Amino acid sequence: MYYIGIDLGTSAVKLLMMDESGKILNVVSKEYPLFFPHPGWSEQKPEDWYEKSMEGLKELTEGFDKSKVKGISFGGQMHGLVILDKDDNVIRPAILWNDGRTTEECDYLNNVIGKDKLSEYTANISFTGFTAPKVLWVKNKEPENFAKIAKMMLPKDYLAYKLTGVHSTDVSDASGMLLFDVKNRTWSKEMCEICSVKPEWLAKIFESYEKIGTLKEDVAKELGFSSDVIVAAGAGDNAAAAVGTGTVGDGRCNISLGTSGTIFISSKKFGVDSFNALHSFAHADGSYHLMGCMLSAASCNKWWMDEIIGTTDYAAEQKAIDKLGENHVYFLPYLMGERSPLNDPYARGTFTGITMDTTRADMTQAVLEGVAFATRDMYEVAKSLGIKIERTKICGGGAKSPLWKKMIANILNLKVDVIESEEGPAMGGAMLAAVAAGEYSSVEEIADKFVKVVDTVEPDPELVKKYEERYQQFKLIYPALKPVFAKIK
Ligand code: XUL
Repeated sequence: MYYIGIDLGTSAVKLLMMDESGKILNVVSKEYPLFFPHPGWSEQKPEDWYEKSMEGLKELTEGFDKSKVKGISFGGQMHGLVILDKDDNVIRPAILWNDGRTTEECDYLNNVIGKDKLSEYTANISFTGFTAPKVLWVKNKEPENFAKIAKMMLPKDYLAYKLTGVHSTDVSDASGMLLFDVKNRTWSKEMCEICSVKPEWLAKIFESYEKIGTLKEDVAKELGFSSDVIVAAGAGDNAAAAVGTGTVGDGRCNISLGTSGTIFISSKKFGVDSFNALHSFAHADGSYHLMGCMLSAASCNKWWMDEIIGTTDYAAEQKAIDKLGENHVYFLPYLMGERSPLNDPYARGTFTGITMDTTRADMTQAVLEGVAFATRDMYEVAKSLGIKIERTKICGGGAKSPLWKKMIANILNLKVDVIESEEGPAMGGAMLAAVAAGEYSSVEEIADKFVKVVDTVEPDPELVKKYEERYQQFKLIYPALKPVFAKIK
């Protein structure tokens, strides 16, 4: 039998098909545009997601026996606000996870309603990318659109709705809305009232590995699939990636270097970060996790390579880097402002320490190191909560670079386990579909069977020492520039 995982990302949708033993049969990726209508805003068209996913599903299964497709599920970019009117038309483009327009609404939620109340109701505080402040923004700034809302949903749930007609969400993705009582895995009545969200707008909640329904007849026909194909709720992309890398159960860690950068720590027990720098969310395996999210990770390198130095050969640029731990140039990776741990939408990217002898390779190195230092900032918060980790998995586009993995291992002083297939959210989505279809009894069972570590990048004590000094210097830059960022916004 075949299972399909759909990773609805920010730059593209990636689709993966595997058989019941975890063997990957095909992977397809389809890009769609990302719009920045104002500095710091970020939007996409839900219609593009659906169109490209359908194209991708057709291409993915071409030449395969389609009657063997048994289940589909998702990993989806989190926090995006999709609003539909009473006829199910998309009211306005989706406002994405890396959009920074809601500073006023976040100030209202964090300072007028108060962080303690938010944390009591949802286990989290407000960040500009979260969904609830976006609802308030639409209410405040686009009342004509607000008046039309009949349903609201997250990006991957829009796809699920188009495929099945079921208005659903899962606990991991719902956690990032700030409308969800994470501990009790249910909508927070208090937060919905505070944000003027009507209960009938909200989706039915499922665990990530539960079946929400089957394909609609017309969709099944268009794809050439049986309409018995089950669709499972799926998960936010980070929880799905955690499933795909075996980061389930207690005390395991995954670092994702995608458009965003995240550190994800699985936990059997519910817990809240008292500093509110890490998010406390439900996990796709039925338990919980803590997560830090930086808004620009592999996207910093992509920006530097594609837009600034103008090359597609990332590996060739990295080959020229030979002075690890000795770079005099520093890069702050805050190209879209920053979420964890700074919670500062006005933070910006900078190079610091450039001199006449600075080379192109030094600057490329600074970009990669800046992302790794900022990942360390999130890891430091986890350590300050008493969390002890010795090793991490790694996934996302950036994980394809051996050099970047080495930087992560040495800057965080962690063993980095490299797994056989670092397909992350798409693999996790397919695994959740297989659990929902009854092929495996739990997410932990399938993760233990499928995920194989093939290599470990060990930190080198000398390099760890050199990088420790560099990290201490990196840490001086943002606090010094913070007041400047607030002025040049
Ligand atoms: C997580 C987050 C990002 C997006 C990226 O909180 O905002 O990782 O999910 O797709």
